[in-house]
Amino acid sequence: MTVLIEKEIGYFLCHRRWSSSNNKAGIPKMILCKDLFEIDCPFLFDLQAQKIAKNWFNKEKDMGRPMKNLPKDELEIIEHVSEIVRSAKEAGYLRDSSNSCDYHENNKKAREFVKCFLSNKKALPYGKFSSTDQKILSLNGTNYLFFPNASAVVCNILSIDVSEFNDKFNLIVIDPPWVNKMVSRKRKRNESHGYDLMEIHEIQKLPVKDLLSENGLVALWCTNKAAFRSFALQKFFECWNVELVATWYWIKVTTSGELTTPIGKNKKPFEILLLGRNKNCVNYKPVPSHRIIVSIPAAIHSFKPPLDEVLKPYIQDEPRCLEMFSRSLIPNWTSIGLEAFQLQDIALYEPLEENK
Ligand SMILES: C[S@@+](CC[C@H](N)C(=O)[O-])C[C@H]1O[C@@H](n2cnc3c(N)ncnc32)[C@H](O)[C@@H]1O
Repeated sequence: MTVLIEKEIGYFLCHRRWSSSNNKAGIPKMILCKDLFEIDCPFLFDLQAQKIAKNWFNKEKDMGRPMKNLPKDELEIIEHVSEIVRSAKEAGYLRDSSNSCDYHENNKKAREFVKCFLSNKKALPYGKFSSTDQKILSLNGTNYLFFPNASAVVCNILSIDVSEFNDKFNLIVIDPPWVNKMVSRKRKRNESHGYDLMEIHEIQKLPVKDLLSENGLVALWCTNKAAFRSFALQKFFECWNVELVATWYWIKVTTSGELTTPIGKNKKPFEILLLGRNKNCVNYKPVPSHRIIVSIPAAIHSFKPPLDEVLKPYIQDEPRCLEMFSRSLIPNWTSIGLEAFQLQDIALYEPLEENK
């Protein structure tokens, strides 16, 4: 089970547990490594974290004051996150509080683990891959964990031939490589640490309209940049024949429930998920217009929490689901992208038995 707490305002979910629940018999049960999720302190520069660790009793002041006059949506989010975090602490899913050692360490273990993984990462070969059972797929000396009935197409999405997909999809999750300064900087410094980016006009050309079923739902991860968000809502949705039905937020918290990015700074502590329904759909179960998803993020940049369980109530039974720009697999789903199953590398997994 991924969703550990469900309330009217949203969910607390565990990405790591999700990874093990997809394992079926065949090979030893695997789970994403614990080190990946050891996010014990907010995302800070080393100097800033050290300063806070040394001056622990002035922590609130050193974290910096939030901007005045926060927008209404951000104020509501803070309130709702506190409620979910409180419940997660009561249930023992989060620690009570952080301490100066956490800030002193500044998530070093998680960061080094990811740095080592990215330095050894190899590009996937183009092609179609699938498996009915759970298996390990070896490609160019790297082993990838394939989940049951998952299929993947490693390709440039802009050149896919929609006629190759036999049927339309009831859910399409899209996490585009939005133009982003941080990723381009990483890309410039070290090829393996970033990924290719896509201009907004190219994202608009994705063949969503041709691939979405009549009752289909689109879940679009959108950057916090206001201009991109309004372009997505006006232009993408129009082109894809989709109408906005809900705006959800993913809020990233540390192992003690602190926001990974302090609220009220330029960088937001949340990512936005825009949900749109095919305009031709009649009478389908409505998606709640606002929900928050709270979870501890993996230390890999942009690694999103799985949405299969939280979106299941709003699509048909035994749905056909597609993830565009994926980096990992979901059982029974089709995943496409240049790095379609890069994060299934077993270097990111460990045997479940060791982590009871
Ligand atoms: C924001 S990331 C997706 C992250 C993913 N949702 C996750 O949770 O790990 C965008 C991905 O799109 C891929 N990408 C960039 N340009 C692409 C293209 N033209 N066709 C297919 N994939 C592309 C990048 O390599 C990267 O893996």
